[in-house]
Order: sequence, then structure tokens, then C-alpha cells
Amino acid sequence: MPVRTIVTLPDPVLRRKARPVTSFDGNLQTLIDDMIETMRAAPGVGLAASQVGVSERVIVVEYGDEEDEEAPKKLYVVINPELKVTSDETEIGVEGCLSVPGLLGEVERALAVKVKGQNRHGQPVKIKAQGWLARIFQHEIDHLNGVVFTDRATKVWKPEPEEPLVDNV
Ligand code: NI
Repeated sequence: MPVRTIVTLPDPVLRRKARPVTSFDGNLQTLIDDMIETMRAAPGVGLAASQVGVSERVIVVEYGDEEDEEAPKKLYVVINPELKVTSDETEIGVEGCLSVPGLLGEVERALAVKVKGQNRHGQPVKIKAQGWLARIFQHEIDHLNGVVFTDRATKVWKPEPEEPLVDNV
């Protein structure tokens, strides 16, 4: 499971709308395994296939429970994800992105979402997410539509060395 190179702006693949996955074959399984490895090595808490230069609708997310730091992290692999906002409430949070190195930004996101899609074998999956997990899904699905966080950010800056680290996505 090799770690793949993470592409950064201005690579045009990050601006492309990724195509739906139709074949759950060996190539897809390799892509998923490589994306998980690449996300962990970065380290990051989410990764979209566009970020490794593959314009297909695949995301991986690995994130623990915000309320319980001891709880094991949960890995999500979602193919052809569809996002539905399930809360009128929004929240402003600070995001960083592995494909936009050296910048942070404040982004307003929905507080709760539902993500529908398929697992790595093509079976339907539904995920309810709130807070940071909801933010990560919104960020990753944006990548599949050619959108990066700086497009949505109300404020973007270069972090000072002493600034607290943000989980990259
Ligand atoms: Ni990102």
C-alpha cells in the first residue's frame, strides 16, 4: 500500500468535478488502500481522491469522537458520496488542507449533515455526522466538486509558528 503524492494548488485536478465510480474493481480497492495510507502518513483526518490526482468520487475520513478522546478513531470510506445538510445551524471553524499547504482559513459550515453513498464493495452506506466530523465530510465532498476551503473562507491567513495545529483535510 504505497503512500501517494498529495497534489497541491494550482494543480488543475483540484478544480475538476470528479466522475462517479461505476466499477468496484481491484483498481478501486488499491486506490482506497493507498488513500488511507496517504491520509495517515500526511497526517490528515480526511482525503479525497482528487488530492492524489485521481478524479473519481472517493473519500476517506478517519476521525475520533470529539467528546471522548480515548475512543478509537473511526474510518469511513465513502464512494459517490452525496451530502445532505440536516441542520439550519452553522458553525465557523478553522480549516487547513493538505492540498493548500501553509494556509488556514475560517469557514462557515453546516453543523450536521447526512452522507449517503456506497462502501468499498458498492453497498449503500448512510452516515450521520455533526460538528468536526460533519465539517470534514463537507470539506472532502467539496474537493470532489473542484472546491477548496479557501473558496469558502471568510478569512485566510498564514499561521504563525506558535499557532495551534489544525487537523489537515
Ligand atoms: Ni482538503
